[in-house]
Amino acid sequence: MAENPVIVAIDGPSGTGKSSTSKAVAVRLGLAYLDTGAQYRAMTWWMLENGIDVADRAAVAAAAAKPVIVSGTDPRSPTITVDGTDVAAPIRGQAVTAAVSAVSAVPEVRTRVTGLQRAIAAEAGGGIVVEGRDIGTTVLPDADVKIFLTASAEARAARRSAELTGKEAADVATTRADLVRRDAADAGRTTSPLAQATGAVEVDTTELTLDQVIERVVRLVDGKRRSR
Ligand code: DC
Repeated sequence: MAENPVIVAIDGPSGTGKSSTSKAVAVRLGLAYLDTGAQYRAMTWWMLENGIDVADRAAVAAAAAKPVIVSGTDPRSPTITVDGTDVAAPIRGQAVTAAVSAVSAVPEVRTRVTGLQRAIAAEAGGGIVVEGRDIGTTVLPDADVKIFLTASAEARAARRSAELTGKEAADVATTRADLVRRDAADAGRTTSPLAQATGAVEVDTTELTLDQVIERVVRLVDGKRRSR
């Protein structure tokens, strides 16, 4: 028997294993997957590429409707394009990472990207895992399952440092400072700040392996499906 479609919102700061967990849970449960951070990064990449001063909120707001951002939602090979260009690699670079908090704090940007996210979730007939910062609070407050992933700043910095290679590599102390700065900006902004949603289950991943986190989230989703 086909399972009911289920919408899973996974929020939390960076370095908590959000992306790895969300993709693996989607694969395990046969759901689509959306990385909303990648959409904000794609918007930021476009602003930089087009010479928009990201510190100029009015200029960012005026341009927010322009880029055509398309997300592929297969959790085994998620894709993202802007105006038809594959930006999966450049959106992970330092330039975008340094500018994304400023761009994503602009209300016109959030309204535009939130609209894209709701449309994708509505079209995912079989259900979807959506990961971000404000999915359970703002984008999909009626999600069937809401998870808030946390971890100590030390654990998050160590994981992020291990992920960064080549010219993007940085030591753990630099990565930690960068994470803390970005968390403060994301949690302190006026429009849909990073926050734990009402009804969200907090999973502290500091002492857990990735497999343990995935298992816990899969169990929560399965439990919810059975209770419906
Ligand atoms: O998850 P990430 O590091 O790729 O996200 C990049 C930035 O995008 C992050 O600093 C905050 C912002 N973001 C957001 O404001 N809302 C979301 N739903 C997802 C990401």
